Amino acid sequence: MQIQKNAPIGVFDSGLGGISVLRELARLMPAEDFLYFGDDRNAPYGVRPESQVLELTRAGVGRLFDAGCKAVVLACNTATAAAVVPLRALWSHRILIGAEPAIKPAIRDGHRKIGVLATSTTLSSRRFGDLAKALGTEAQILPIPAPGLVELIEARVWAGSALDHFLHGILDAPLLQGIDALVLGCTHYPFVRDAIKAVSGGLPLYDGNAGIARQTCRLLAEAGALRETGQGSVTFLECGQSADFFRIAQELIRLEKGKV
Ligand code: DGL
Repeated sequence: MQIQKNAPIGVFDSGLGGISVLRELARLMPAEDFLYFGDDRNAPYGVRPESQVLELTRAGVGRLFDAGCKAVVLACNTATAAAVVPLRALWSHRILIGAEPAIKPAIRDGHRKIGVLATSTTLSSRRFGDLAKALGTEAQILPIPAPGLVELIEARVWAGSALDHFLHGILDAPLLQGIDALVLGCTHYPFVRDAIKAVSGGLPLYDGNAGIARQTCRLLAEAGALRETGQGSVTFLECGQSADFFRIAQELIRLEKGKV
């Protein structure tokens, strides 16, 4: 099947988190058009069973392909954990990129006791279990579920004492003593990077967003479908989201990485 070079790239998340990926994609591929679908009617995904996340993700990705997207980025670790394997089988002739907690770059930088902050669904998934097992020979991997953090970020709590208090409740656990790096294994979390950095005492933080953008660019180039000239755009797919969603989304897309 011929991929249309001028078609948009779809970006999918349960809500606003995928905008942290979208910013990297747009930075690396400024000539591309992006169509963003944040399924905030069904967010958060990270507390749902994998079977539900799979169904919701299948519906969201289907909408983006139906809208003519030449590739879809699952800008969501939870959706990737639950759905990327079956959806790649379903759309075997299409480009579908997933998100994975950035443990490998942390190991590459020499860290040996690594906390992975992510949703409960991601951390309990087989996909994460396999990754942690494969990399567990090189470093100690500590899963840190953060139920409630996505909800705070969706509610626009990006800084302040309530957020700090919440983060202390998660990161001060005795089990986490001595960790030397933290992986942000949910695409919402880069929006509270500064608070996580401060509360964790300045630990190095890793997210996979730049890697997702590079992989997307590479796959499109290999397919001869990368747009390299012109000025791209970002469009938000409307699908019953709250009016607030679009206002906050516009605000987030304008902000510089790490400066939320
Ligand atoms: N942004 C999603 C992720 O990367 C999580 C969002 C949710 O729980 O809905 O895992």
